[in-house]
Amino acid sequence: MSTLTMEELTETTGALVRDVDTERLVDDVHLPDAVAEALETFGVLVFPELNASNDALVRFCRKLGTLIDFSHLPPETAEVMEISFDPSNPNAEYFASNSFWHIDGLLDEIAPKTSILTARVTSETGGETEFASTYDAYDQLSDMEKELFANLRVVHTFEAVQRLTYHDPTPEQLEEWATRAVREHPLVWEHDSGRRSLVLGATASHIVGMDVAKGRALLDDLRDRTTGPGKVCRHSWNEGDTVIWDNTGLVHRVCDFDHTRPRVMHRSTVAGQEKIK
Ligand SMILES: [Fe+2]
Repeated sequence: MSTLTMEELTETTGALVRDVDTERLVDDVHLPDAVAEALETFGVLVFPELNASNDALVRFCRKLGTLIDFSHLPPETAEVMEISFDPSNPNAEYFASNSFWHIDGLLDEIAPKTSILTARVTSETGGETEFASTYDAYDQLSDMEKELFANLRVVHTFEAVQRLTYHDPTPEQLEEWATRAVREHPLVWEHDSGRRSLVLGATASHIVGMDVAKGRALLDDLRDRTTGPGKVCRHSWNEGDTVIWDNTGLVHRVCDFDHTRPRVMHRSTVAGQEKIK
């Protein structure tokens, strides 16, 4: 078994990995299992200035699972999505929603398991990425809350997240948003591993069977407790940094930065294997 030298970043989430270089990333056959195990414990792994090529990252990530194909987007390769606000990027209008706490892919049939993000061009100020554990958020609930929330279900929509950016949407925007999938998930995810986490984030529209305002207040309160003081792992990017996180047990967001200045991130995503239940 391969071992990793790690330094914990916060009490609840995140670890810095110091002893992986691009050679080890590609050649160490035991590294994928070691990374998967560390992700289960720490949620987020930071590989500072790894400076790995997309080719090397894709070769490694394929060993973690099936990579999602982004070939409908304008990437360098089908398995790497470029995240930038460059006007030539046709998805730029949707990336603004990345600044709200979210779980990737909650509107997909199965949410992705692992996300891998690499900084290619960093912003001069801001643009940090923050993470908070939704496993810890569940563990911190009172026994009464755990009982109360056990059967709650939450509807997630594209409109819910887009409205956070576009407060006065055009009819065309509303029409386009309505074409996107709507998903209903339990508030509490009972993972195959036996662990439980909260399913939260900007896509959450309302709680099924609950007054909309009351449901929203509960979701906002849980988000704030999940991401409160001492709960957030914040990564300030240097070019070449790679961060890998367990998308099923965390919420994340990007901090403010100047969208008119260059900032380029490359993301690969490992498909999930279990439905939220
Ligand atoms: Fe994201």
